[in-house]
Amino acid sequence: MSADFKTALITGASSGIGRAVAIWFARRGTIVYAAARRTSMLEELAAAGHGNIIPVALDVAKEQATVDTIQRIDDECGGLEMVMANAGVGDPTPAQHSTWPMVERVLKVNVTGAAATLTAVLPRMAKRGRGTIVGVSSIAANRGLGAFSCYSGSKAFLSVFLESLQVDLHGTGVKVVCVEPGYVKSELNDRMKGHVPMMFVVEAEHAAEKIGRAILSGKRVLTFPWQLAWGAAG
Ligand SMILES: NC(=O)c1ccc[n+]([C@@H]2O[C@H](COP(=O)([O-])OP(=O)(O)OC[C@H]3O[C@@H](n4cnc5c(N)ncnc54)[C@H](OP(=O)(O)O)[C@@H]3O)[C@@H](O)[C@H]2O)c1
Repeated sequence: MSADFKTALITGASSGIGRAVAIWFARRGTIVYAAARRTSMLEELAAAGHGNIIPVALDVAKEQATVDTIQRIDDECGGLEMVMANAGVGDPTPAQHSTWPMVERVLKVNVTGAAATLTAVLPRMAKRGRGTIVGVSSIAANRGLGAFSCYSGSKAFLSVFLESLQVDLHGTGVKVVCVEPGYVKSELNDRMKGHVPMMFVVEAEHAAEKIGRAILSGKRVLTFPWQLAWGAAG
């Protein structure tokens, strides 16, 4: 594993995977800018964060504001060393019942919100010749899940977006990590219950340990658990 980061920004840090990863890095001494809309939950997180977690009110569906906020923090902290686009929604969009507002909500958070989050720092990190960008995609990027056309499609976008960035940034010193979790206990996961059969569900803390280690080592793609990764690759 490489050295820990001095600074990091994580979107969707108010609950689930983002919250657990924020704590994982804060415990190791990283100053974590924890971003989400529910600021009361971020304040609670900060209290559990060993003095290393700074709440940031952010709605990634407001793309330009997202870019502006992240660039302001990047300026203020002397350059973010890791940025993780983790904010996501997993609402079902079944073909027979989906409406444009349902589809648009998924796209605004999972696609344009994630792209805005990462684009905010890409040229800056490339210029500095260091940094790590991370996208939390999903194992659903590899297969179109029934009732989740928009979610699966949004994650396929993110995985392929990151793959292209890996090509562009090869040799620049900037690392790109794509995380493709299976089922992790969270609010999003609770809302998916009843729509998809869930197997090999893990705790958010277990996922954070795997994700944190993969980020520090600059792993290109982390797909877990292995049982589902094997199925997705088939
Ligand atoms: N859990 C799983 O089984 C699983 C599997 C594969 C991939 N994932 C991915 O993991 C990521 C985290 O999800 P999770 O499972 O940890 O679910 P979660 O507990 O529901 O967390 C989702 C996070 O995204 C934030 N968020 C949602 N809309 C936002 C917006 N417009 N602006 C800013 N933040 C927003 C939420 O914060 P606020 O509501 O406070 O804004 C929350 O912190 C997602 O990208 C998800 O697709 C999860």
